[in-house]
Amino acid sequence: MSFQPIEQAPGRLNRSELAIPGSQPQMFEKAAKLDVDVIFLDLEDAVAPNEKEQARKNIIKALNEIDWGNKSMSVRINGLDTHYMYRDVVDVVEQAGERLDLIMIPKVGTAADVYAVDMMVTQIEAAKGYKKRIGFEHIIETALGMQNVSEIAAASPRNESLHFGVADYAASTRARTTIIGGVNEDYSVLTDPAKDGSREVHWGDMWHYALARMVVAARANGLRPIDGPFGDFSDPDGYRAAAKRAAVLGCEGKWAIHPSQAALANEVMSPSDSEVDRAERILKAMADAEKTGKGAVSLDGRLIDYASIRQAEVLIEKVKQVATA
Ligand code: GLV
Ligand code: MG
Repeated sequence: MSFQPIEQAPGRLNRSELAIPGSQPQMFEKAAKLDVDVIFLDLEDAVAPNEKEQARKNIIKALNEIDWGNKSMSVRINGLDTHYMYRDVVDVVEQAGERLDLIMIPKVGTAADVYAVDMMVTQIEAAKGYKKRIGFEHIIETALGMQNVSEIAAASPRNESLHFGVADYAASTRARTTIIGGVNEDYSVLTDPAKDGSREVHWGDMWHYALARMVVAARANGLRPIDGPFGDFSDPDGYRAAAKRAAVLGCEGKWAIHPSQAALANEVMSPSDSEVDRAERILKAMADAEKTGKGAVSLDGRLIDYASIRQAEVLIEKVKQVATA
């Protein structure tokens, strides 16, 4: 390990993160009863300009009056390039800061963006005497944000998670997409002809680099990497496939833009019984190996060593987190 310790963000369960527009208060009560880890009430892209002010009021009222249970509550403020943002922060944190766990900052481009919001939130928290520190979730969804992702990840002790905002990222990079978070047939490999002349098309994941880049920046700074939206809520298989790809790369959670997607995210992002069983057997096998002075042994015909212990411990830790949620 490096001599430089990595401080981990608070251990918050973040398998599913449900987006609810602040302009749709009729959806709030139902959302509060869903099995979802984090809810973000949106003031940004799901809210039309002439509804921003009312949405802010709806959100403040809802945070104060609705029983959200033990869910983590977040509000997505407007971007720093708009004139809505300062009032989003001031009004929401001043009037509902006690129940607010997180602020989601969209289209973060530089570490200075984080600093600016941090300064505002710090002043409001101090003025109001809040005991709890509000955390930050950053959406990495522009070319600039991806370029500066490491600096953004390190920019504030409030930082908890990085989110891949695939829709805006596509717009910013001018990627050719079909549906939000979906794949594109044109991003594929054509195999060389087989003996009979036949060829196959293997679809690739056009988001692989961006997501993997963000995961590295998040983990190097002790933050949770979270995958963003999947637009086709009538395609659970497509959602599951996207969530699994993200989980395989190290993401801890995925957005749900529809309640039905929250259950899918919880399912994919929770350790499976077979994973838990294997992790427990790894820990036992390594404990036995240690007694006989060995640092590496075989389990089911495969090598395991101290790195396997660390992977198993991470998984068991997640199981405990889910169990106490
Ligand atoms: C989320 O905000 C996205 O743009 O995908
Ligand atoms: Mg966006």
